[in-house]
Amino acid sequence: MAKKLFIRTYGCQMNVYDSARMADVLAPLGYGATERVEEADMVILNTCHIREHAEDKVFSELGRLRLLKEDRSGRGGLIIAVAGCVAQAEGEEILTRAPYVDIVLGPQTYHRLPEMVAQASRAGSRVLETDFPAEPKFDHLPAPSAQGPAAFLSVQEGCDKFCSFCVVPYTRGAEYSRSVSAVLAEAKGLADQGVREITLLGQNVNGYHGEGPGGEGWGLGRLIGALAEVPGIERIRYTTSHPRDMSDDLIAAHRDIPQLMPFLHLPVQSGSDRVLARMNRQHTADDYRRLIGRLRDAQPDIALSSDFIVGFPGESDADFAATLALISDIGFAQAYSFKYSPRPGTPAAAMDDQVDETRKEERLAAVQDLIGRQAVAFNQACVGRSFDVLLDRPGRHPGQLIGRSPYMQSVFVTAPETMLNTVQRLQVIGAHPNSLAATLLERRACA
Ligand code: SAH
Ligand code: SF4
Ligand code: F3S
Repeated sequence: MAKKLFIRTYGCQMNVYDSARMADVLAPLGYGATERVEEADMVILNTCHIREHAEDKVFSELGRLRLLKEDRSGRGGLIIAVAGCVAQAEGEEILTRAPYVDIVLGPQTYHRLPEMVAQASRAGSRVLETDFPAEPKFDHLPAPSAQGPAAFLSVQEGCDKFCSFCVVPYTRGAEYSRSVSAVLAEAKGLADQGVREITLLGQNVNGYHGEGPGGEGWGLGRLIGALAEVPGIERIRYTTSHPRDMSDDLIAAHRDIPQLMPFLHLPVQSGSDRVLARMNRQHTADDYRRLIGRLRDAQPDIALSSDFIVGFPGESDADFAATLALISDIGFAQAYSFKYSPRPGTPAAAMDDQVDETRKEERLAAVQDLIGRQAVAFNQACVGRSFDVLLDRPGRHPGQLIGRSPYMQSVFVTAPETMLNTVQRLQVIGAHPNSLAATLLERRACA
């Protein structure tokens, strides 16, 4: 009988990608996906360790799964696996705190899931696999199966930057780039399954330096140029980038490659040079302003997104004011902001000038207010413009489709169902805080 697999994913897009790949790895064992945890034979929690809150969610979810497992005893049982960054950071602790967990596996070992499941199925066996294997997992994974017209494609993993607040270099390991041929093969496979938009993923995706066909190193700009030639791939994005790795080639790609969407998520974290230095970001606020200037020169239509941390240790009122000033100067289409969360083992957690919670709350509210107003202004400025939208899901109302604009906004339009999964030219007629309304501008051939 077919077995059912339930995966819950926390954290970043890389975890979303990894979850899909874990499902691909387990499919040959007879596991099919389910959305209902109650009917699952195996549950994987793909976890995130970035902030304390993310980690807490995992342990409370495990508490619920324990009850489900007890309920199942004697009826074939339930395999519980904890994957991802909490597993990597706290593997032993999970096994101790949650004796009903069968498998704990890090982000670099999930190609070995079939053996782990076999081992866990033997009564009394528990599995802990959190090493960083010499063989890259990508060489051992089956080709991904596409889910819809937009897909993630992991090209780079890990991080060597060691920002003083961040766990990623510890949970994901050293920077690694997949070869150009592996990336192109995966992109072609996705395009053959109807994928039209690819988002290239990496913790430091613009630090990509994969091996080219002749053994030479390729940067991300060159890789995007080659992907733009893959038949069927109409739109390309990449995330997440570091300001220090925005090379001339990549900036030029924004000018020269029409398939590259004019939208960039470029985290800056703070507008204060003193805080940026203590964060070990290795650039100044003015470096960031100049970089954005160069990107806008290359692609005047580009819209920007970023990440901000408020309440980093030692952040003064003046430092925080510098962050607000940077946001005002740049003008973001959207941005994410977080209260600084001290993470075990990171240098910033040991700094002795931690900011108190009330101040963090106040600063978060102020940043979110400013960013929110910028996002509304950006959406309103889109009214009257026309752009290509990938219509990727049905709307709530009959006859309606929803798509994503070049700037990642959700766009609602009345359109025939045959246009689902196609790119259409739309004109924006209305702006809401989190979405746009549009009409069809011209009818294109439907795939
Ligand atoms: N690689 C990306 C970001 C990875 S983590 C980069 O270099 O920017 C995603 C975001 O989480 C970060 O940009 C940062 O804003 C936030 N973040 C990371 N560690 C954090 C911490 N300890 N507390 C609060 N936010 C954090
Ligand atoms: Fe974390 Fe910094 Fe690496 Fe981004 S660049 S993953 S914030 S250490
Ligand atoms: Fe979280 Fe790991 Fe991604 S810590 S943000 S899931 S790399």
